[in-house]
Amino acid sequence: MRVTERVQNLEYAIRDVVGYARELEKKGKDVIYLNIGDPVSFDFDIPEHIKEALIQAVKEGFNGYSPSEGTLELREAICEKEKKIGGINILPENVIISNGVSEGIQMILGALVEKGDQILVPGPAYPPYISYAEFFGGEAVQYRTSEENGWQPDLDDIRSKITDKTRAIVVINPNNPCGALYDKNVVKEIADLAGEFNIPLISDEIYDQLAYDESLSTASVAKDVPVIGLNGFSKVYLMTGWRLGYVYFYSEDDKNLKELREHITKEARIRLSANTPVQKAAVEALRGPQDHIRRMVEKLRKRRDYSHKRLNEIDGISCAKPKGAFYFFPKVDGIGSRWKNDMAFVRNLLEKTGVLFVHGSGFGTAYGSGHFRGVFLPPIETLEKTFDRLDHFMAST
Ligand SMILES: Cc1ncc(COP(=O)(O)O)c(C=O)c1O
Repeated sequence: MRVTERVQNLEYAIRDVVGYARELEKKGKDVIYLNIGDPVSFDFDIPEHIKEALIQAVKEGFNGYSPSEGTLELREAICEKEKKIGGINILPENVIISNGVSEGIQMILGALVEKGDQILVPGPAYPPYISYAEFFGGEAVQYRTSEENGWQPDLDDIRSKITDKTRAIVVINPNNPCGALYDKNVVKEIADLAGEFNIPLISDEIYDQLAYDESLSTASVAKDVPVIGLNGFSKVYLMTGWRLGYVYFYSEDDKNLKELREHITKEARIRLSANTPVQKAAVEALRGPQDHIRRMVEKLRKRRDYSHKRLNEIDGISCAKPKGAFYFFPKVDGIGSRWKNDMAFVRNLLEKTGVLFVHGSGFGTAYGSGHFRGVFLPPIETLEKTFDRLDHFMAST
């Protein structure tokens, strides 16, 4: 059977690496999976009141399809949250609920990218932005982020890569895969640049409340430039497997985004609706107690500090300090000599130690090569075991 070229080229490094690990596990190897950013695989859990709200919703009969753009109740709760946390005013009609931020990315790029079009994405990049841009016949062009400077975006590089084919500039802040938190003036300058060229910003804010320093919403500093925001419930509210997110449209002049919003609503209609009972639980997540967030950030801060210290003590590894999200993205000496490439490094490490990371080039070769990505989600004891094994591996390979 013939399959299209667009599916033949699909890749998702974060999950693609799991195959080798499962094979080793079958042979009796103890594998530590540090490849996926899923807090509930470790010692984090969805708060009880949110679980109860889901059970209640199912029992009370919120089980049918919901409006394609999402329930009004949840869209209102999102507007309240965006005002409180992001400092921006949006109306419920400017919010569309998706089955996860992933679906939001697909819908936005489906509406913006034609054959030959480009979007600018941070390099290294979160892979779905590359995959969906290509899926729709376009291309994701990566702009440099500077490792020496905590992976802050390089403004000159962004400017030099804007062409008449550029349809959007993507900002992911706090960032996956680098754990960067962008400086306020950097975000402002990106927004000004986008305004100068009349290009909309796509702002992925899924880690907005998981920051170890002050974070900000892109829209709060964007003047004269439309912002298409993406956020969801997988990380801050730990609802990864429940699959819920949202897209919001922010612009000082509603005209700017009206057409895009209407067409993304049509895309939402063809997939009927987002998960209905989970939308009820999401209202509770946003309006109910928020104290788990502070506890989660404090727990993660300790794990971040420990991981950063241990990684930099290992000969041949250097790591910028993550300031948001839950990822480290260290550089490895000897890629290209001791190991053919970063994929060979990750495979070799897995075979010898059972520790699974993702190769940096899985986030784009231009800026990701020579690195790996791991999560600092596990308890310190697991991290200790991980870094002991990595240390021994680096010393003995
Ligand atoms: C930057 C970023 N955007 C989007 C997603 C996907 O989120 P969701 O579970 O809402 O589809 C992730 C998940 O890791 C992410 O890191």
